[in-house]
Amino acid sequence: MAMTGNRFLLGFAVGLIIAIGALAAFAWSGVYGIGADDPHSRPVSAFLASVRDRAVRARAAKLEVPRDLSSEVRIRQGAGNYDAMCATCHLSPGSSGSELNRGLYPAPPRLDVARVDAAQAFWVVKHGIKASGMPAWGKSMNDEYIWNMVAFLGALPGLDAGQYQTLVAASGGHSHDGQGTDDHGDHEHRSPDHHDEAELPDVPEAARDAVAVVDAFGTALVAGDLGKAKLLLDPRVIVLEAGGAQRSREEYMSDHAVADARFLRGAHVQVTRRIARTGGDMAWVATESTIHAHGDKPASSLSTETMVLERKGNAWRIVQIHWSSQER
Ligand code: HEC
Repeated sequence: MAMTGNRFLLGFAVGLIIAIGALAAFAWSGVYGIGADDPHSRPVSAFLASVRDRAVRARAAKLEVPRDLSSEVRIRQGAGNYDAMCATCHLSPGSSGSELNRGLYPAPPRLDVARVDAAQAFWVVKHGIKASGMPAWGKSMNDEYIWNMVAFLGALPGLDAGQYQTLVAASGGHSHDGQGTDDHGDHEHRSPDHHDEAELPDVPEAARDAVAVVDAFGTALVAGDLGKAKLLLDPRVIVLEAGGAQRSREEYMSDHAVADARFLRGAHVQVTRRIARTGGDMAWVATESTIHAHGDKPASSLSTETMVLERKGNAWRIVQIHWSSQER
């Protein structure tokens, strides 16, 4: 009985050595296609996909998903980061493709179409996926921001191109806190939510509606929709721009608005800082942004803007605008 057991073990060991040797010879020979344009065979793909799926599931099962993932604030905050950090690979509503999306293998799924499980998406975004193009964003982004991103991913497949752009414009642009980015020392003067050039917006709850009007006005100008822009201005608005003044909505709409819309047409506007305050029926919103305009002459500029708004009935209307900008 003991003999048979030993023989079996010996046979097994020899078999194992031969198998490892064959595998090493195969690797050494260089015959296996490693190019991203040379897909794995079906069994290999299926094996790798199940390794990935099982690994993600097992780890995601331990996560506690926040209950408020459908919160508008989370969704809006995630939108700007998605546009800045993910859309080149995972695309966005209305986009027909990108070089990265076409060239990567495995291909990044279209997240404006595919629905993803919240816990699994969180795990993948935080840790990335080995030997694929999917980075570990947890190295630069804190968990709360990743959950905001997951909240946005939940809403994304239902959005059309216009709704997507509006959300991106309304969010704080590319902004998230993360490890390793907070090393400039002067904590007194900055919010800790610092990343590259963007700061988290400093907007109290009471000022949110006023800020939404400011953003809707900007979005309308970028879209060339002067009718909509006009609706958000008080008839007696004062617009201060380039050292000059327009003293009514009529005056602004008939002249400068047309030029502003032409300049901004299709521009990429990224809000880098924002502060808003309200008191009674008045609000002010100060915004710093970078503008990449593609219009008549492509240009990149830094823009600062103050808008004063007044609440009329239920709606905020813009009563004063001050713009100044400089070329980059
Ligand atoms: C450089 C390209 C690239 C960028 C940028 C990128 N990803 Fe990915 N992502 C991938 C690839 C490739 C995969 C597929 C990996 C695989 O299947 O093994 C993937 C997979 C995913 C998945 C899993 C999808 C599923 O069906 O399981 C999620 C969720 C995801 N990415 C979210 C994001 C988010 C959110 C961002 C931005 C913060 C982002 N990705 C940025 C390339 C990218």
